[in-house]
Amino acid sequence: MQLRMRRSALVSEDVDGGGELSTQVIAVTSGKGGVGKSNVVANLAVSLARAGKRVLVLDADLGLGNLDVLLGLVPQHTIEDVLVGSHTLSEIMLRGPAGIHVLPASSGVPRLTALTESQQLMIQEQLADLAAEMDVLLIDTGAGISPNVTFFASSADETMVIISPEPTSLTDAYALIKVLARQYRERRFKVLVNQAKSPREASEVFGKLDVAVDRFLHVSVELVGAIPYDDYVHMAVMQQKAVSDMFPDAPAAQAFKRLAQQVTQWPKPGLPKGSVQLVWQRSATHAGN
Ligand SMILES: Nc1ncnc2c1ncn2[C@@H]1O[C@H](COP(=O)(O)OP(=O)(O)OP(=O)(O)O)[C@@H](O)[C@H]1O
Ligand SMILES: [Mg+2]
Repeated sequence: MQLRMRRSALVSEDVDGGGELSTQVIAVTSGKGGVGKSNVVANLAVSLARAGKRVLVLDADLGLGNLDVLLGLVPQHTIEDVLVGSHTLSEIMLRGPAGIHVLPASSGVPRLTALTESQQLMIQEQLADLAAEMDVLLIDTGAGISPNVTFFASSADETMVIISPEPTSLTDAYALIKVLARQYRERRFKVLVNQAKSPREASEVFGKLDVAVDRFLHVSVELVGAIPYDDYVHMAVMQQKAVSDMFPDAPAAQAFKRLAQQVTQWPKPGLPKGSVQLVWQRSATHAGN
């Protein structure tokens, strides 16, 4: 219900003639932790910004955020300050490499791991206003199937699930997709393989997930790319820099550049991927009338 209210408001404020939102909202998520979500968000954001896009990044790993550390930023305030009402999202926004905008999360705050509905609404309202000024909003959701993860994943236009070649990343991705399909009626997922040793390994890993999801969950998964395992990623992390900035010729940085080019060409989804988008779509139609 609260999402419905905000979606209507967001659509009526930010229509581009045809009643469609112009900001691309992509949630980057995973079942298993440590597969590379935050690195994907940081490097995709930098690569999109280098391609001329206005990019906003939300660290939605609210209790255990670390995007700021990854990007060498030192936030004075975080989303925790927004939730207690002392600051607005706009006030905590930082500028990062390549001019990206970053909304940092706090770390070590267990009570933020499950937002209340009114907290969700507050974040969503303020986020909608900021996102309206951007071309792309990337959301780093944190790992697992907690309510925060599923909330942020389901409210985006696109859910990009990160998997790695480890078998546990596949079983956990399957579990996450299952929860999103059952609870939020999500029907479409984009999948990015990270840390693959070869393109062949990437397609084999994706193939296993594709078969299981298609057979047992009846939802669609689309492979959108693969980021190779690359020691330069680790070297950049140690320097608190995005590999796309520090080592732009490294294999992973080149793969992020290709991914960014592809992302800018993703068509606006014709059909909603889940129940939340259905509401959004209806609101858009209504707002356009
Ligand atoms: N393509 C890659 N090649 C080599 N190492 C990588 C690659 N991607 C990620 N890593 C390594 O994996 C580590 C974990 O990455 P990251 O913090 O982005 O994962 P995460 O999914 O965000 O983790 P969490 O679930 O804890 O939020 C990084 O510190 C980096 O050393
Ligand atoms: Mg992370």
